[in-house]
Amino acid sequence: MPLVTSKEMFAKAYNGGYAIGAFNVNNMEIVQGITEAAGELRAPLILQVSKGARAYANHTYLIKLVEAALIETDLPICLHLDHGDSYELCKSCIDGGFTSVMIDASGKPFQENIEITKKVVEYAHDKGVVVEAELGTLEGIEDEVKVEAGQASYTRPEEVEEFVSRTGCDSLAIAIGTSHGAYKFKPGTKPQLRFDVLEEVSRRLPGFPIVLHGSSSVPQEFVDIINKYGGDMPGAIGVPEDQLRKAASMSVCKINIDSDLRLAMTASIRKHFAEHPGDFDPRQYLKPARAAIKAMVAHKIVDVLGCDGKA
Ligand code: G3H
Ligand code: 13P
Ligand code: ZN
Repeated sequence: MPLVTSKEMFAKAYNGGYAIGAFNVNNMEIVQGITEAAGELRAPLILQVSKGARAYANHTYLIKLVEAALIETDLPICLHLDHGDSYELCKSCIDGGFTSVMIDASGKPFQENIEITKKVVEYAHDKGVVVEAELGTLEGIEDEVKVEAGQASYTRPEEVEEFVSRTGCDSLAIAIGTSHGAYKFKPGTKPQLRFDVLEEVSRRLPGFPIVLHGSSSVPQEFVDIINKYGGDMPGAIGVPEDQLRKAASMSVCKINIDSDLRLAMTASIRKHFAEHPGDFDPRQYLKPARAAIKAMVAHKIVDVLGCDGKA
């Protein structure tokens, strides 16, 4: 099966009350761990590549890894640019075979965000590629863009209709309290997404797919393993999975997860070296790390996204 766009996936997810997982890929073991889980569970999949991942692994290597996953799994897979920060980067990914791009101009003023998003949409649609845009800003680090604590802003529902109709974007990432990385909420506070904002956005955009970034849950057991074996991750706290499940049952069709895969992989590697200090064959520590990613993705597909059996 060739790469697909997210259009059909999102239409089915919206009507079916589930969401598609968008997992970040950086190397072969990550691609394999994710796609093995999705393949066994017959879950449609979005593999996403950040600017940093592309710089790290090389566009061609990433494309070829994803092509291999298509052959091995025969799943509907969408290849997506995560947090494209310029028209040129989006164009390069579109020309280079991606089926979906995100233009993230959410840090720019409203009118500027509209202009750059519209320009990307015009180019992308001409080539059969879909576009995700963003309104509102999340705290945390998105590639080179760091939004300081307190500087994030929830999406303003009164802006979404004008934004979507003027840009022609295919999906919209909104800010309702999620954030990037492992430190999403202050320790001691009760994490709570703004479902009132999500509901109002959905009311204004009936049938339109909404995206949640920064949706790792940061399971304490993985933080504990990392800390037990020499790490130092104080006060890490993520989005409760029951809130993500609720969002998936509403208009949220795409849920972005990266940090949880990093945690699973790093915890596995730290544990491996603590137990096998003499190992120096990368296969010995990357094999369990890949299995840890697979287990994490399987859990997300079944317990959070609800997209198992939907491929
Ligand atoms: O939202 C950002 C993603 O987690 C990608 O992170 O820019 O470090 O590859 P990265
Ligand atoms: P997390 O850092 O919560 O995994 O979010 C990833 C993300 O939003 C990628 O765009
Ligand atoms: Zn993101």
